[in-house]
Amino acid sequence: MSSAMMVIVIVYTLFFFLSLTFGHDFDQSLGRVLPANLESLQFGDAFNQSLAPMTLPSGLKRLQLGLGFSQDLAEVTWPSLEKLGFGDFFEPSFQGVVFPKTLRTLLLGSTFVSEVSNETFPSSLESLSFGEHFDESLQGVTWPENLQSLSLGNTFNQALHGELLPKNLQSPTGLGWRMHCF
Ligand SMILES: *[C@@H]1O[C@H](CO)[C@@H](O)[C@H](O)[C@H]1NC(C)=O
Ligand SMILES: *[C@@H]1O[C@H](CO)[C@@H](O)[C@H](O)[C@H]1NC(C)=O
Repeated sequence: MSSAMMVIVIVYTLFFFLSLTFGHDFDQSLGRVLPANLESLQFGDAFNQSLAPMTLPSGLKRLQLGLGFSQDLAEVTWPSLEKLGFGDFFEPSFQGVVFPKTLRTLLLGSTFVSEVSNETFPSSLESLSFGEHFDESLQGVTWPENLQSLSLGNTFNQALHGELLPKNLQSPTGLGWRMHCF
């Protein structure tokens, strides 16, 4: 997409829509060009720019990153997101990442294999989905109080017993492990 076209799309978005989806090949840093009232932003598969220097719209609630996004997140200033999704090639660890305290849904891609610890998830989180290849121990993880839905991928093969699971996990979706509960 040319920059002139991008500006048209953004201006159009500003007045008519609260949602913006970039095409497959878009891979440019956006600085502060996105309208502040944008609620939903989705990147295509080629996008792999650091989010840290970007000003994400203050009203943004849903952010979906594409397949190729694999950037460190420790320096990112998050808006009050409710839903955040990563693509399948996302690999950096969540060490030092402070997710927004408004986050309710977190979707991790296939290759997310980072350890999860007590500090990883915000207490607002209600729904968490690990990617296909997640296979790290859940020992010692303190789940957010509100977590109701947990989905583990097909390769998950770690001890999993009562006390390792979130207290408020809801049936009948239950574990969604080997099934899809989203
Ligand atoms: C994305 O960028 C990071 C950092 O520059 C790099 O390590 C990674 O390989 C890139 N990912 C893809 C899918 O190109
Ligand atoms: C996680 O938090 C719980 C409860 O606050 C605590 O008992 C546990 O030791 C912590 N685990 C780690 C690995 O820090």
